[in-house]
Amino acid sequence: MSLSNSPDPAVREAVVRQDLDHVLHPIVQHKVLEAKQMVVASGEGSTIVDADGTEYLDAMAGLWCVNIGYGRTELAEIAADQMRQLSYFPHTAMNAPAAALAEKINGLMGGGYHTYFVNSGSEANEAGFKIARQYMKHEYPGEYRFKTVGRYFAYHGTTLATLDAGGMGERKAKFEPFSGDFVHVAPPYCYRCPFGLSYPSCGLACVKNMETTILGEGPETVAEVIVEPIMSGVGVAVPPDEYLPEVESLCRKYGILLHVDEVINGFGRTGKMFAHQHYGVSPDIVAIAKGISSAYLPIAATVVKNNVFDSFYGDPAENRQVAQVNTYGGHPVAAAVALRNIEILEAERLVDRAAETGAYLLDGLRGLMDLNIIGDVRGKGLLIGVELVKDRVTKEQLDAAQLAGVTDFCRDNGVIVGRGGGGRRHGTTITLCPPLVITRAECDRIVDTLGRALTALEIS
Ligand SMILES: Cc1ncc(COP(=O)(O)O)c(C=O)c1O
Repeated sequence: MSLSNSPDPAVREAVVRQDLDHVLHPIVQHKVLEAKQMVVASGEGSTIVDADGTEYLDAMAGLWCVNIGYGRTELAEIAADQMRQLSYFPHTAMNAPAAALAEKINGLMGGGYHTYFVNSGSEANEAGFKIARQYMKHEYPGEYRFKTVGRYFAYHGTTLATLDAGGMGERKAKFEPFSGDFVHVAPPYCYRCPFGLSYPSCGLACVKNMETTILGEGPETVAEVIVEPIMSGVGVAVPPDEYLPEVESLCRKYGILLHVDEVINGFGRTGKMFAHQHYGVSPDIVAIAKGISSAYLPIAATVVKNNVFDSFYGDPAENRQVAQVNTYGGHPVAAAVALRNIEILEAERLVDRAAETGAYLLDGLRGLMDLNIIGDVRGKGLLIGVELVKDRVTKEQLDAAQLAGVTDFCRDNGVIVGRGGGGRRHGTTITLCPPLVITRAECDRIVDTLGRALTALEIS
């Protein structure tokens, strides 16, 4: 059975039946899928096409990941060539594409980094936790520096440890209890400041909260702090400029490693190659995924600064090597595709374009602020959140069902937007994270469609 671009309702219906009878989908309720399905058959640029021929402007780049856009057939050629040459060998040995990709990543980071390859953002963060713990065992023998400090409302992945590191109670509820190795502090979510303060008079109370937590836990028990520079999970929160440098200073003060999650933020999304580069910090551990290959193939990595790498270097008898392995890490085909993806990002200046188009889209969205239902429009580059409220003064949150109505309206009108902030039931924010190739005309369409959805909601 093939899904060509010429719609055939019978073929589509057969796929739907096959799927409903056999697939267990993530996070969506199957009863909902029985009523309405999308069968995605193809994509080009920022547009995906259902097998029934319906086109959608994908303002979420899939799951925040298709940075160079859909339909880059040259990546298929790269993958096929590499498969013919060498399809796979474990990364205990070397292979050319993975070596070249690691060199490229080091250059993009500004030098001084080694890369450990994995397959997903969750694994990249998970490996980061383990590398931090192992580093502490090497550097502080006999001590127990194992905790990770994270932030409430953050998302760092779907494994037990990454879920624990994140701060979304609703996502964790079905899997509790957790280990207690991950402690949480207030996020720099200025629109709803956890301390009821305003920037700059707040004096960055959220960083003080982090220091209090580190002191309360005992700095000698903490291995690392994990932060996503621009928090996506909370509905896109851009911190004050001093936030990340101050977090870095805390880490240095207490001998704690700084672990930055660039899984969404990275590869041009926010208008720099990596979001931490907006803030002049130098993280010890960086998790990268998604945009590394624009999701053409699964690949991710944990990138470590050379001071961390050095701790893993020694005679075999010292037993300092990375104490884990994964089957597909450093996969030559995925690495070759990722490398070409990055070359495309560079050749087409997509990082600058994200900054320019992002500013244009933000402007357009701010033009909707006469709608009282919009509480806040915020973002950096092409990572944007539009927070919706019942009342702009009290900031009372919109019901999640109403928010779902907005995303449904947009989808029914051919534009896919996301929602986030505090979990599925309590989400308050429309999120936008389109391919970096999105055009201004397509941005206008997003603004127009969202404006109509919100106007309909205000009138109702
Ligand atoms: C910030 C962040 N970190 C980590 C992850 C986990 O990545 P993956 O789904 O590839 O495991 C995600 C996924 O959306 C994410 O948004």
